[in-house]
Amino acid sequence: MSLLELDDVKVHFPVKKGLFFDRTVGHVYAVDGVSLSIEAGQTYGLVGESGCGKTTLGRAVLRLNDITDGGVVFDGTDLAKLPGEEMRAFRRRLQMVFQDPLGSLNPRQNIESILSEGMAAHGIGKDQAERREKIKDILAKVGLPSNAMSRYPHEFSGGQRQRIGIARALVLEPDVIICDEPVSALDVSVQAQVINLLEELQESLGLTYLVIAHDLAVVRHISDVIGVMYLGGLVEEAPSDALYAGPRHPYTKALMSAVPVPDPEVEDRRERILLHGDLPSPANPPAGCRFHTRCPWVQETKCATERPPLLDTGDGHKVACHFTAEIEAGTVKQTLATGIEAVTGTETVAAEAEEVSEGETAAEPEAAAPEKEEAPGKEEPATVPAQADAAKTADAAKADRAEDSPKA
Ligand SMILES: Nc1ncnc2c1ncn2[C@@H]1O[C@H](COP(=O)(O)OP(=O)(O)OP(=O)(O)O)[C@@H](O)[C@H]1O
Ligand SMILES: [Mg+2]
Repeated sequence: MSLLELDDVKVHFPVKKGLFFDRTVGHVYAVDGVSLSIEAGQTYGLVGESGCGKTTLGRAVLRLNDITDGGVVFDGTDLAKLPGEEMRAFRRRLQMVFQDPLGSLNPRQNIESILSEGMAAHGIGKDQAERREKIKDILAKVGLPSNAMSRYPHEFSGGQRQRIGIARALVLEPDVIICDEPVSALDVSVQAQVINLLEELQESLGLTYLVIAHDLAVVRHISDVIGVMYLGGLVEEAPSDALYAGPRHPYTKALMSAVPVPDPEVEDRRERILLHGDLPSPANPPAGCRFHTRCPWVQETKCATERPPLLDTGDGHKVACHFTAEIEAGTVKQTLATGIEAVTGTETVAAEAEEVSEGETAAEPEAAAPEKEEAPGKEEPATVPAQADAAKTADAAKADRAEDSPKA
């Protein structure tokens, strides 16, 4: 049994209207049927574009949001149905690290006070002296000097503040840490340091992570398994290497095709799969496959009417698409990118659509293969050029640092 198991979790926020009578006129389907499991000591990376429900899912695990339906089984106990009083005992074991370290630290409290608050609430340490010792120890673990205790959040840099956020989680001796965009607010070089720190802490303390990010490059090295989320649901889940070597869901393919490849020759041949249209509103998600309104491979049957379940396509590589096998085999071709309709149907738009579709249909199968083979090569820092985009540089810096034993 996995340490943390989510079973068809749904979080729907009611949309209210009216000044006097709070009428519920609809729902935001922020998380709509997510099942996943995280093994003890492993890292699950959750990626997806803004608004797809990642934070809501993370918060639901800690019961910071009400769970509309489904189960969150942690260490054999279903938290979703636990009364508040009993939930408190589990809160200590599941901690969260937030994206914005400054916003989540009280500016009027010094670090000792911030860190000991939770400890006192959970009865860790018999007196303040004992808590202070523990805090000193944890601050050293996250790479901060012990004199940090008497200082205030504004006196630290962004990266240091995130270390404080991590320390605040660690002093409570958690089993699971949910890191919501832990490095998004940080400088590229600092991102790598913080990711490295998380990895070191996982090794020394045996932690289990759920790492949320909108950037595939950030979660790549740290994750054992990666889940790709689209509009409230998982569309693909696979061991990290398998996902990068060969994404199978059209949405993941599109996300990956947007990531520059460090090899200039491959980069020149790289085909981008362009998604048309915006992310539909989670208050009014499309019927059938959530992605069908933007999917370059959308078919006339099934896609608009049946929601595809997340199924194992072999080797634990799960995909939620009716046509995975056909797309892999090349027996269904890219159709018109339907999202183009959103730009209003003039002749020029239609022509452009055909152009895109044709170009991609012809080039995709051949071009995708070498690109995918190239992906694992990114592990060698030497192949990563300095001008690569921010996330890629973080990746490289991280790989570099991993070699010359990272320090604070
Ligand atoms: N308390 C709330 N009440 C109503 N709607 C909400 C609430 N919290 C989130 N939402 C909606 O749920 C959807 C998912 O939001 P969420 O913050 O989980 O996305 P996200 O994937 O974390 O995005 P980002 O990458 O921008 O952080 C959004 O449409 C958001 O507007
Ligand atoms: Mg978020």
